[in-house]
Formats: sequence, structure tokens, C-alpha cells
Amino acid sequence: MLKLSFWKGNCRPLKNNMNFLIVIAILSLFLNVNCLDEATLLKLRKFVNCEDKGYKSSKGIYRDYWVLENYIMAGHGPLLCSANVTYTSHADYTYLDNVVPLLERWRSPLSLAIYAPGADFGPTLESILYLLQCHPGRHLVRELTSFHLYFNVEHLPQVVLSPRMALSKRANCHAPPPYVNVAKSNMYRSRTKLDYPVNLGRNIARRASLTHFVLASDIELYPSPRLVPAYLSFLSRHVIGRPGQQPTSPVVHALRIFEVMSNVSVPSTKTELQKLLKTGEALPFHMQICAVCHRGPKLEEWINATEASADLNVFNVGHRSDSDNMWEPIFIGTVEDPPYDERLSWEGQRDKMTQAYAMCVLDYEFHILDNCFLVHKPGIKQPGKSKSIFPQTRRTNGLINKRISRELRIMYGSRAGCVI
Ligand SMILES: *[C@@H]1O[C@H](CO)[C@@H](O)[C@H](O)[C@H]1NC(C)=O
Ligand SMILES: *[C@@H]1O[C@H](CO)[C@@H](O)[C@H](O)[C@H]1NC(C)=O
Ligand SMILES: *[C@@H]1O[C@H](CO)[C@@H](O)[C@H](O)[C@H]1NC(C)=O
Repeated sequence: MLKLSFWKGNCRPLKNNMNFLIVIAILSLFLNVNCLDEATLLKLRKFVNCEDKGYKSSKGIYRDYWVLENYIMAGHGPLLCSANVTYTSHADYTYLDNVVPLLERWRSPLSLAIYAPGADFGPTLESILYLLQCHPGRHLVRELTSFHLYFNVEHLPQVVLSPRMALSKRANCHAPPPYVNVAKSNMYRSRTKLDYPVNLGRNIARRASLTHFVLASDIELYPSPRLVPAYLSFLSRHVIGRPGQQPTSPVVHALRIFEVMSNVSVPSTKTELQKLLKTGEALPFHMQICAVCHRGPKLEEWINATEASADLNVFNVGHRSDSDNMWEPIFIGTVEDPPYDERLSWEGQRDKMTQAYAMCVLDYEFHILDNCFLVHKPGIKQPGKSKSIFPQTRRTNGLINKRISRELRIMYGSRAGCVI
């Protein structure tokens, strides 16, 4: 185990100090914190069809955007593509307060695409440097996070330092973090009325993943702890390397999503979650805003079922069709799942609809996992606050109805029960 896992960047401790390494290696043998045993690693290596990628910084023009991929790289270096899961997400700098609480639970690679047009670039870089240099959780950020920045070719920042120069800048650790208490109306993006290119960000983050398996999520959704090692051993036990038992449809593993009151700390186990659900301090995600978008099949039964063991298992299987055709599941999938349509912006809404349609036509099975879940950053969203309808919504609907639905039918075909 030590050889494979440790030299290839898996379970590699933070410091390059031999004694420290040995202590950690021994400890992790006992505690099995975040490591996999050798048999599991070898099985994943053999049956997961992927190629290890090089890990480097690059920049290029993509559509009407500059994309700085791996502008700031993670300390973990290159990874085995088969033996880890990357959390991929998008953000602007005002969401960076989520990075450390997320990593404290995830403790695995994070690939994060940040939209930083014009004068938003400066505070974005300052926010990243603050996380890397000042935050008490900076070791996790340095070890695990790959930051990608992107902006419109027509909204260039005044200065874009090389990654090396950027990293050599000193953050002001005495000032409050640059990402808190930002008035959104003062952001360059708001002042110049730019739409948020959410799907471009999602695709950049996913494309940059060094691992085959990804959890493409929103950065405010925190996973239950130890999800990655539990997921990989679940895969090796139940899903891969079983001749004759391969599913005929593509399979992804969906996670149930909850939210908690702002005065409540995020639950770590299903048992804790169930207690909070009983008292009403936790709720299924967006219950009051768009219940059909997040419930998925058999939500009540899932909530009811007690946690029999810490191992993951599949609770039930859903499809994104018929009664669940509005469901927007978040799932552990792979870099090969259908991409997000980059013409759709966050303001236009329905931004995941095209991917969902493709997955419906391709007959993806959404295996809903038990004993693990996602919880939104504390605070329950009330209906009303987010009611404002953007003019972009109408434009997006027009685009989807006129062009995208036709394209999708050409590219993926159609199938009864699948709607856009
Ligand atoms: C995934 O990678 C991170 C960073 O190298 C490492 O700390 C973690 O232990 C790895 N997870 C597994 C299950 O090997
Ligand atoms: C949080 O606030 C609610 C009322 O707003 C209260 O019922 C609940 O007990 C509080 N929970 C904690 C953990 O303080
Ligand atoms: C949940 O459990 C309770 C008590 O065991 C039972 O009465 C109820 O029918 C269950 N609900 C569902 C949806 O399974």
C-alpha cells in the first residue's frame, strides 16, 4: 500500500519530512483515515478506464474567454486518475469563504474555476492568496486546491501576473479576508452587467480534473466526511471488476442534499442529520423553493432508514424521466459524462437542463447513495428572496426552444419520457 499510494501522491502527508511521513503512514494504517488498501488500489487501477494526466499551468483562449488553467496548483502534484475523486466547482471570489469548510470535510482534490473579469481579478487573486497564506486552514487549501481563473477577452484585467509572480505576492493577513462583506453591486461584473458564465466554469473545472471520478457540485454544498475513501471502496466492492454484472446503462451516484438553520453546525453522520430533521433544524434542500428540483425518488424512505453501517450502499435507483423530470441531482460521475451547455448562464436559469436531457436520453441510472449526503452552508433559503426574474430567462428559454432542443435531438436522439 505504502509504495503505490504514497509515491504517486495518494495519501501523501503534507510535509516532506521523513519521520513525519513514517508516523503518518503508521497512523493511517491504524486509523485508515483517508487511504485505501492495496487490493482496492490495484482493483481500481485495473478496471477504471482512464489515463493519468500531466499537471501543469496553461493559458488559452476558449470561445470568447481567456482561461488560465491551473493558475495556482495544488501541492498534491500529479495523481493516479483511478484512485481519487475530484470535487469540481465554479465561483466568483465572494464565495471563497466556502473553500476551507468544504475541504475540512472533503480532504481530497478540489478543482475550482473562478470567474474574474476586469477589476474583479485583483480581489480574486488577493482572496486566493489570503486562503493560501493567512487562513488557519491554509495547509488544506495549498495541498488540495487547483485554482483556474477565466474572464471575457473583452474584459481583461489590467495586470495578469505569471503564476509564479502571483504566488510570490504577500497577502495582508491583518486585514479581514477580501472575500467577506463584499457588496455585490460594487463588483466589476455587476457594474458592467455581465452574466455569470456558470457552465463554462463547470466545464473548465471538470476538464482540469486529474481524476476520472468527479463530484461536480456547487461550492456551498459540503459533503459528509470520509466520502471519497468510502466511495472508492464501495466501487471496488460492488461496481467494478465483476464480470457479467456490468450495468448496460451508464451509472452515476447521486447524493441527497439538505440544508440546516444558520445557528446549527453541519451534521457529519446520517444519524446526526436525522436528529436535526426531526426537530426541523434541517430540511431537504430548497424544500420551499423548488421541491421537485431536489427531492428525487423515495426521499422520505431515505430519511427514515437508519444508518446500519458506515459503509456506503445504494438506497434506490432513479431516472431523470417521468415524475422526476425536473430533478437536478448532484452526483459522483466521471469526466466523460455529457458536458454543460456553455451558452446557458446562471441568470438565464435552467442551466443544467441540457445535460439532464442528454443523460435522460442516454438512460443514465442515478444510484442514490445511503450513509452520505451534501449539506448546504448553514442558513435556510426562504422563498421570495430569490424570486427576481431576470430578463435573461426569457432569452434562454427562446434559445433552448429554438436551437438547443433541436441540436440535442440530433446529437443524442430522443426517448420517451425525456423532456427539456
Ligand atoms: C486523494 O488525494 C489527496 C491529495 O493527495 C490525498 O490526501 C487523499 O488521501 C487521496 N485519497 C485517497 C482515497 O487516496
Ligand atoms: C436554532 O434556532 C431555532 C429557532 O430559530 C431553535 O429552535 C433551535 O433550537 C436552535 N438550535 C441551536 C443548535 O441553537
Ligand atoms: C417512516 O417510519 C415511520 C415509523 O417507522 C413509519 O410509520 C412511516 O410510514 C415511515 N415513512 C416512510 C415514508 O417510509
